[in-house]
Amino acid sequence: MVTGREEIEKLFAEADKKQIAIPHFNHSDFWDMSFITEAAEEENSPVIIACLPKVIQAIGIEKLGAVARITMEQSRVPVIYHLDHCHSVEMCMEAVDNGYNSVMIDGADLPLEENIETVRKVVDYAHKRNVHVEAEIGKIKSAGEEGYTPKGELAALEDARRLAEETKVDALAVSIGSEHGFYSHAPRLDYELLEKLHKALQLPLVLHGGSGIPREDVRRAIAGGIRKVNVGTQIRYTYMKSVEEAIRMMGAETHTADIMSEAKKEVKKVLRECIVTCRGEEGAGWR
Ligand code: 13P
Repeated sequence: MVTGREEIEKLFAEADKKQIAIPHFNHSDFWDMSFITEAAEEENSPVIIACLPKVIQAIGIEKLGAVARITMEQSRVPVIYHLDHCHSVEMCMEAVDNGYNSVMIDGADLPLEENIETVRKVVDYAHKRNVHVEAEIGKIKSAGEEGYTPKGELAALEDARRLAEETKVDALAVSIGSEHGFYSHAPRLDYELLEKLHKALQLPLVLHGGSGIPREDVRRAIAGGIRKVNVGTQIRYTYMKSVEEAIRMMGAETHTADIMSEAKKEVKKVLRECIVTCRGEEGAGWR
């Protein structure tokens, strides 16, 4: 079981040695939390199950933390439970207190000094409690989803260096041209910038906006130093579309468990593909 920051650091070190990445999947409820765990177990891969603040607002942090804790204890692969894109220091602290072993404090919309100050507060609280912390540099654009950053801005190398050094944060989400949500154009990642960031920084770099980036591009980003790949929209979309399709085929009187069993098959296909992309082709990776 992954109890905290030290084990997470070990997983990132292993990923770095093998030039692979840990998959991060955003979940929305307890059903998809179990789909993610099953897919990771079947692919024998560590996995990060990530929770946006809006999921906390909908379900409650204590309940989420409790179920995640059991999931992490019982899983046959390392499972990390992560708070994603949190703008509030207080909510990060609450997540730490409720069993999340990883949190992201997103200060990307703040001026650099304030971003550093905010990240420092979370690092200070989380590290004492053995919890891993991610921050963001540059602004990763979003297609308009609430809580995300509407306008993109590439990461500035010197800002990234300062944020990393002055906060001692554990992982860094870098804005290199990816976007949250489905792309309205072909995604174009800035591999030169990624290379510079990778050379300059001694911590795992995170690729956000994984939905819709072609597999070859994700592989190239991993070869360039990305150690965590975040995917959300593609999972939610597949989940909702397959529930819709199952209801259309089977009728709304069908038991939820039977509808979910259909959805699970489709969602797991997406998850397993992403896992394989992250750990490389057969024979490579975590096995
Ligand atoms: P997508 O929803 O675009 O896959 O991005 C997910 C993400 O980066 C969550 O942090």
